[in-house]
Amino acid sequence: LMPEPELQERILAAKATLGEELVILGHFYQRDEVIAHADFVGDSFQLANAALSKPEAKTIVFCGVHFMAETADILSAPEQAVILPNLAAGCSMADMADESSVETAWEEICETYGVDPENTLPDAEGKLSILPVTYMNSSAALKAFCGRHGGIVCTSSNASTVLEWAFERAHRVLFFPDQHLGRNTAKAMGVPLEQMPLWNPRKALGGNTAEQLREAKVLLWHGFCSVHRRFTVDQISQARAADPGVKIIVHPECPMPVVDAADAAGSTDAIQKFIAACAPGDRIGVGTEINMVNRLAAQFPDRTIFCLDPVICPCSTMYRIHPGYLAWVLEELVAGEVHNQVSVEPEVSVHAKVALDRMLAAKP
Ligand code: 13P
Ligand code: SF4
Repeated sequence: LMPEPELQERILAAKATLGEELVILGHFYQRDEVIAHADFVGDSFQLANAALSKPEAKTIVFCGVHFMAETADILSAPEQAVILPNLAAGCSMADMADESSVETAWEEICETYGVDPENTLPDAEGKLSILPVTYMNSSAALKAFCGRHGGIVCTSSNASTVLEWAFERAHRVLFFPDQHLGRNTAKAMGVPLEQMPLWNPRKALGGNTAEQLREAKVLLWHGFCSVHRRFTVDQISQARAADPGVKIIVHPECPMPVVDAADAAGSTDAIQKFIAACAPGDRIGVGTEINMVNRLAAQFPDRTIFCLDPVICPCSTMYRIHPGYLAWVLEELVAGEVHNQVSVEPEVSVHAKVALDRMLAAKP
């Protein structure tokens, strides 16, 4: 591998040559050596908006994971190219809801509610029996599925607004892929836990009785994030025992008992804002990805900021965006070659955009 300083220089030189033609977007979980080159840094909602806000750039280089680059491609102008420096940077949670399992589940669910899976018409009250909501962390195909069935996309920063939007239009919601974000959000809105059955695609009726499904308000798909699943109530109790004044903030992809035990939960941007609003001298335990926690600790040296998980666990796929890949795609662009383009087929993109536009228009 090439030494880091040399790579950094190569990135800077290619970026300078490409000028206004290029915009680099970086998710909060990216390593510092990549974030240093990003024109915008943000959570997944902010980065989707950033992709919309630069129509003059010929190329968007997305330093994040595959579903984020797909979203940028769907939302950006048709002539703009979106590049993911390493195409192997996926998201294991997004992979937990594949198109065929979702289609099969949808048919079974619609059959249970006595509605046509191809055309879930509103009832006399003007409401649908069920409507799909997908977390941004999902494939473009799944977003398109939502677009076709009256559904919508959410991120961790607008999940309750989106669920409210959904409940105005439907009696129930099928929420995927992240069971934890779905459960934490619906619980905060007052939905009782017994009305949030888990849907396991490997079991008949998702592992539920027909009665449970009739009573349901939110059907939770069986997905989770392997990074956020590591956080435990025990870690929070230990942090509080060691320091009763400690403040705890976690990402809503953490399991419900962890979110309940924390002082606050929020998207990566909300975590950043929470820490910025703390006072010098404050101690803050954070339940999210380590690259972000370490960067916040460096940014606010007058506060003690630490990760709740003692075993350092980065998001291994976010980490696949090595500066070496960034240097390579940029230098190829200088040479007139587009590599690692993420391009969603038009027949998928058109429906996925419907679901994304509904999210962008949904107001709190
Ligand atoms: P944010 O929407 O909070 O940026 O989260 C994205 C993500 O992948 C968290 O694991
Ligand atoms: Fe996916 Fe979890 Fe990584 Fe976020 S942190 S990109 S949800 S695997």
